[in-house]
Amino acid sequence: MTPSTTQPALQRATDQTRPQTQPVASPAVRARTVAGRTTGASLQQALDSSATRKAQCTKSARILIVDDEELNVRVVRKYLADAGYSNFVTTSDSTEAIELIRSEKPDLVLLDIMMPEVSGVDILHVMSLDQKLQNIPVIVLTASNDGDVRHVCLELGVSDFLSKPVEPTDLLPRVRNMLLNKQYRDQLASHAEKLEEQVRIRTAELAASREEVVHCLARAGEYRDDDTGHHVVRVGKYVGVIARALGFASSRVELMELAAQLHDIGKIGIPDSILHKPGKLDPEQYDVIKSHCAVGRDIIAPLPSKEASMLRSHARLGASLLHVPSSPLLMLAARIAQTHHEWWDGTGYPLGLKGEDIPIEGRMTAVADVYDALSSKRPYKPAFPREKCFEILQEGRGTHFDPKVLDAFFHCADEIIQIQIDYMDR
Ligand SMILES: [Fe+2]
Ligand SMILES: [Fe+2]
Repeated sequence: MTPSTTQPALQRATDQTRPQTQPVASPAVRARTVAGRTTGASLQQALDSSATRKAQCTKSARILIVDDEELNVRVVRKYLADAGYSNFVTTSDSTEAIELIRSEKPDLVLLDIMMPEVSGVDILHVMSLDQKLQNIPVIVLTASNDGDVRHVCLELGVSDFLSKPVEPTDLLPRVRNMLLNKQYRDQLASHAEKLEEQVRIRTAELAASREEVVHCLARAGEYRDDDTGHHVVRVGKYVGVIARALGFASSRVELMELAAQLHDIGKIGIPDSILHKPGKLDPEQYDVIKSHCAVGRDIIAPLPSKEASMLRSHARLGASLLHVPSSPLLMLAARIAQTHHEWWDGTGYPLGLKGEDIPIEGRMTAVADVYDALSSKRPYKPAFPREKCFEILQEGRGTHFDPKVLDAFFHCADEIIQIQIDYMDR
């Protein structure tokens, strides 16, 4: 091989891969170019395959064709079948169209307008009034150019029109677009349904865990006071019975029943020597016992400092342990903890509230709490017989207790007794 023959051959080979007039790209630039081309190509591929996937999905869609001319039905069906559609329901009897729509639940309706007995407009009218049928897309096939009819059809929810005789070039893209739209809407609806279901489950879980936390807190408060056993549970249930008898909505009743279980949570702040003292308390010890209302209130939802200073000195026990003013349940529980020892005639504690100034929840819990204390064994007293308990409650009518609440309690005496039996102390 001579230099004269080698040089042109080498030149030709170089020319085929790189024109001499263009600068040589750096490896990095070449890499970017190749990557760019690859990315563009993959994007196009992804779009193509996504379009193919979607088109394939819509091919299995159920299409209802309604036309009183059997021939028209056959022609439209053939065009669609040639394009790959296979799931058809057809009729040339418009009187059975609505029934077919209801039973077959098509993804798309191709509907003639001018039909005897039941017209396309009649069918559209029925569909527009039925929530289950409103979202089924309809393409109207019509030979008429009547603007009024088209306007009525549009008002009744028609998505598109096709002029007869139908051409496949008009029919196929419209059918495909309509089915894709329907597919997107169905996906959105099913996604929304799943989300709603998840929200329902989470809400139920939250409600259950909130209830459990209240039970735990109530049991924790009760645990030191062994002799009262199921006291807080019974009091909660009695309050539920009274609230129902007084006509409160069931959601409110549930909240009250739960919140009333925390009425004695402030006993956490009472020393054992006083809480478990078998004999009579001296006045100072009684003051300490009385402070459980303020302690309970402060534990659950502390008062702003200005209001707190208005409480009696014993109300200072128990600093703010929790602050949850946004929870209706705990705000209710705080009101009950604070007011369940108020008396109807204003001689109760800790605030000396009177009559309807005492929150109704506090008045109901007062009756429930006293009945349970009377009918249960305590360090300082035996359990009294039921008749005696009822008599003592009656004696407190209008002084200790709100007469209306007392009436509700006696009205439901059977239920109260049943709760007493079900939740008897061991
Ligand atoms: Fe109490
Ligand atoms: Fe109590």
